[in-house]
Amino acid sequence: MITDSLQLNLPVDFPRSVLPRDARPFVKWVGGKQQLLAQFEAYFPTTFRRYCEPFLGGGAVFFHLWNARRLPRQAFLFDNNAELVNAYLVVRDKVDELVETLTIHQQRHNKKYYYRVRRLDREELELSEVERAARTIYLNRTCYNGLYRVNSKGEFNVPMGSYINPQVLHENVLRTASSALQGVNIELRDFRSLVDFVQAKDFFYFDPPYDPLSKTASFTGYTRDSFGEEDQRELAKVFALLAEKGAFVMLSNSNTPLVSELYRKFRIETVQARRAINSDANGRGCLPEVVVLNY
Ligand SMILES: C[S@@+](CC[C@H](N)C(=O)[O-])C[C@H]1O[C@@H](n2cnc3c(N)ncnc32)[C@H](O)[C@@H]1O
Repeated sequence: MITDSLQLNLPVDFPRSVLPRDARPFVKWVGGKQQLLAQFEAYFPTTFRRYCEPFLGGGAVFFHLWNARRLPRQAFLFDNNAELVNAYLVVRDKVDELVETLTIHQQRHNKKYYYRVRRLDREELELSEVERAARTIYLNRTCYNGLYRVNSKGEFNVPMGSYINPQVLHENVLRTASSALQGVNIELRDFRSLVDFVQAKDFFYFDPPYDPLSKTASFTGYTRDSFGEEDQRELAKVFALLAEKGAFVMLSNSNTPLVSELYRKFRIETVQARRAINSDANGRGCLPEVVVLNY
């Protein structure tokens, strides 16, 4: 939470620039990078002109850089999931209304209510931006494992999770995220459009859906169109093009032969991620993932 000088009983003119910041993702997102931030520290460029995160998800890296006061004046957050992008815009611009609507979801939450809210995208209803954002966050907090999955018609189809008393409204998290997002450009975009966007000395952090370790154990269905080998190949081309234009590009992915082949001309580092692993007796273990850098 942003520590307010009033809460701390500090003089009103106490410089806010030295107060600690604690912004973090307001959605649970598959592939969230929170646990890898300490290992990433060694790989962030020291100076850059604009920051861009084109596979935004929960935005863990963005919030981390904001906390550390390392974001430049211009930051750009993109994703091709329209509901997620709308939620970020509402957190940035209408956080009071969002808190009000989520309070109602929190009070009414039960199984029947969950499926009623889930069904809203099947009905010909015109929801406001705030109602859509609150629905997205409510479903994210109460659905099975925080998954985002839609059917071929774009209808959200994740069943309810079995949480006893899920916390739908994290008011401090939303308000701190809203502060972090002030002045930030948030857009619905596909990564392929970055070619027209890049400028020299931009810093791009890419966190695409991962190349699956096995053909069966994959989860890539964030939106209607899943992210397959052809997308990984196109992304590698975009990576190379941005590098050629003088940007700093950092990419996370799984440690697979395809990823090694696609980025063989670049620096590839390994980090250890805690993941659920079936072969492990406890079901948890560390898996190496790669960080690809052009600098
Ligand atoms: C691994 S998640 C990002 C996780 C995020 N870094 C975090 O810490 O929570 C990948 C994101 O890429 C988005 N995505 C998938 N295909 C995309 C595309 N073609 N263009 C832009 N974004 C895409 C998904 O909607 C998803 O939010």
